[in-house]
Amino acid sequence: MLMRKIVAKYVFIATLVASTLASKEPLAQVSRSPVAPRRELVEAVVREAYDKFKGDTNGKNADYIPYLAEVDSKLFGVAVVTTDNQVFTLGDVKYSFSIQSISKVFTLALAMEELGPNKVFEKVGSEPTGRPFNSPLAVVDMPTHTGNPLVNAGAIATTSLISGNNAEDKWNKILSFYGKAAGEKLLLIDEVYKSEAATNTGNKALSMLLAKYDRIYANPFESVDIYTKQCSVGVNAVQLARMGATLANNGVNPLTGEQVIKREDIPYILSTMTMAGLYDGSGGWAWHVGLPAKSGVGGGIVAIAPGKGAIAVFAPPLDDAGNSVKAQEVIDYVAQKLSYNLYSPSSVGLK
Ligand code: DON
Repeated sequence: MLMRKIVAKYVFIATLVASTLASKEPLAQVSRSPVAPRRELVEAVVREAYDKFKGDTNGKNADYIPYLAEVDSKLFGVAVVTTDNQVFTLGDVKYSFSIQSISKVFTLALAMEELGPNKVFEKVGSEPTGRPFNSPLAVVDMPTHTGNPLVNAGAIATTSLISGNNAEDKWNKILSFYGKAAGEKLLLIDEVYKSEAATNTGNKALSMLLAKYDRIYANPFESVDIYTKQCSVGVNAVQLARMGATLANNGVNPLTGEQVIKREDIPYILSTMTMAGLYDGSGGWAWHVGLPAKSGVGGGIVAIAPGKGAIAVFAPPLDDAGNSVKAQEVIDYVAQKLSYNLYSPSSVGLK
């Protein structure tokens, strides 16, 4: 009797060990984010959104930068990159458009790499302005003058914090940092740069105002020129989604595995995106969508679902605040369908 019990016990343990060894979950899965989404689900929802909004002709290309007025306003691309580097794409995802204001997020990340979050907060701050992205009134009115790193004035101040022996050094450092976040080398779109450099009197005026208040930390016009170059970097929707996925993945690029941004800096970046990523449209965006995102007047928006991934949409026509109309619609739809709103307990699985 006792013998039979001992044998049964060993048979049970052996079966347990064998079934664990035979488990289909490979070891590599151990490092996979526990909240990375299922492929079929995301693919289906992104396709629904793409089909639903592709006919929307609302909005208008930015035209204060002459090059942008000429971009085909029918271009429309959607890319999702997850924290475990699954990639889904639809539409014009190979077209390289200018990153514009989305660059501000990554220069902020680089400034924090160099100076740490406390210094960046002291030098630039993180207060929503409630005004258009290029507002000189915000510089005059706000106690910090810089507002936050995602409006033009704060972004120019943030760019001025990047160290280097000369302007060329600083620019190369910024471009190479963006490339690490994208997982591949990125290039300047020279025509965009020339078009913006010839017309950016407003940004030069902002840099002079910042100088008046002692809130710019290098030569003002040199800083505006580097900032203009960073806005003219070309990205396609997949590269942009991967830059976003690097933020979603605690600063580790899901393609290269490189820790590009310090893990502890991510919450500062994402909270700033929530407050100011869509400028004076940020409050409405947080209310409806509840995801940190950043727009650019080139027509791109990237939104971050922390731990899960990022969605980038490119469609040039913009609303009055300077945010792509179709990009907002697609991201809003996908976020609702997948319960990604960060402020909803359902986003972490609570039924
Ligand atoms: O400085 C500017 O006005 C442009 N290079 C960037 C502005 C921008 O993208 C605002 N975005 N919605």
